[in-house]
Amino acid sequence: MTLDIRQLTPGFGAEVRIDDIARFDEAAFSALRDLWVTHGILLFRDQELSEGAQTALSRRFGELEIHVRTEYLSPDFPEILFVSNMQKANGEPLGILADRDVGWHYDQIYLPKPALGSLIYAVKVPPEGGRTYFADMAAAYEALPDDLKQRIEGRRAVQSYEHFNRSYSVPTSKTQKARTQDVTHPMVRTHPYSKRKSLYICPGMTTEIIGLPETESRDILDRLFEFSVRPEFVYAHDWQAGDGILWDNARTMHRRDPFDGRHPRLMKRTTILMPDALAAPF
Ligand SMILES: [Fe+2]
Repeated sequence: MTLDIRQLTPGFGAEVRIDDIARFDEAAFSALRDLWVTHGILLFRDQELSEGAQTALSRRFGELEIHVRTEYLSPDFPEILFVSNMQKANGEPLGILADRDVGWHYDQIYLPKPALGSLIYAVKVPPEGGRTYFADMAAAYEALPDDLKQRIEGRRAVQSYEHFNRSYSVPTSKTQKARTQDVTHPMVRTHPYSKRKSLYICPGMTTEIIGLPETESRDILDRLFEFSVRPEFVYAHDWQAGDGILWDNARTMHRRDPFDGRHPRLMKRTTILMPDALAAPF
């Protein structure tokens, strides 16, 4: 089965031209999953995706996360997280992250069992701003200078949701804090499907390398962060309402530009967790 695609950059990202991403038969879905693993990001334009359809499509890739920020979940489908600056009828925020910039991060890197992918569907977008950038951490790892590769070989790093909140989000409640204790993960992650290695660190959530003095840890992380967001590894996306982007969270970190908060923006996200059967190589 061949799907009609257009590359977004020479080695990273593809637009899949399809009328309705909710209606994949088994053969098309299998082709779609192969494209997702190969390209790291898949873009679908002009979609009309209900919350039920988004949840059902995402679940075909694996178990879905119920995000710890329960105040921002869809009342009808708790697998859907609202990313938005809009307000509920009672004046409380509808979604997470409002209108500010959001620094480079991997979704759910702070969980013991991290995310395999995320699907975001754009419902409302502002006329400008709010651009999202994706970095190909597999290409970045492969291009790393040998000395840096050797210095992180076999090492683990600390991942902290609280670190992210301090810069980009509002504090978690006591209960949420208990569910988002810092974890460690290998700094280089082997993809469960492609077996390619990726850098599995991000400025927004990675705080230190285990077993190294603080200054050395900071120095290495800073060098890695600077290297991995070079333009040749990054795809920048300007959203249109109706866009859906499915990205590989074992290979891709992302960040967002701020936008004028007087304009409403609403994105709906589902997050696919690493299947237990595939967790071993990680
Ligand atoms: Fe994110």
